[in-house]
Amino acid sequence: MNAHAGSCLPPGELRPRNIHEQFGNPTGPMGWLVGQVMAVKNAARSRWVLSLLRLESASDVLEVGFGSGVDVRRVARLALSARVSGVDRSREMLRQARRRNAAGVAAGRVDLRPGSVEALPFANATFDRAFSINSVQFWPDRRRCLRELRRVLRPGGLAVIAIQPRNKGATAATSAEWRERLEAEFLDAGFTAIHGLLRDARPVPVACVVGEVASDPELAATL
Ligand SMILES: C[S@@+](CC[C@H](N)C(=O)[O-])C[C@H]1O[C@@H](n2cnc3c(N)ncnc32)[C@H](O)[C@@H]1O
Repeated sequence: MNAHAGSCLPPGELRPRNIHEQFGNPTGPMGWLVGQVMAVKNAARSRWVLSLLRLESASDVLEVGFGSGVDVRRVARLALSARVSGVDRSREMLRQARRRNAAGVAAGRVDLRPGSVEALPFANATFDRAFSINSVQFWPDRRRCLRELRRVLRPGGLAVIAIQPRNKGATAATSAEWRERLEAEFLDAGFTAIHGLLRDARPVPVACVVGEVASDPELAATL
């Protein structure tokens, strides 16, 4: 049997073996369990990240690496007139998130797709907001992935990427390093008005970076 059946791993990539790898690509029965754990994750962290998205004026929102789909549901409830889309490379997460958002999917307000941030299955300038929580640490080439995120955002659009590092030995300094690294990568990817934040949390702070897509066409052409 194909070792990649049931997931959409890139060719040559192995099925996740340990729990850390499962969080990066939930697969099979253990992946199902990981999804249930994600669903009861820190709601305060999500609310904070979503507050940075300025959802009151959003019309098309994208989440990359939606996992269990709880934040897709949260956005759909907070931004009642917005259309909410999502991409995740795990088929198991796609199943769980679609089930969790069944009403929104049936109403045509929620669109969840299999796929990877390296090649987003959307046309240029489709969204005015994009966000991702605790997924960026699994992205293969972050600068390229951030450029891809910028491609699907409209001029004036906003990207918000958050991570609360949970690797063994992570400390507040690890969170601060992520903030700095992501700020530099946002800049390389052509975002403007970039600012990084740290929010106190246990066991370590949440790092978050916000960036805009230039709305001035002349400036955008130079980035
Ligand atoms: C730790 S989970 C976080 C899920 C959710 N955002 C949350 O905060 O609970 C990471 C998710 O990112 C997804 N992911 C990892 N790498 C990805 C990639 N390159 N493209 C799309 N999704 C990816 C995984 O499949 C997984 O569902």
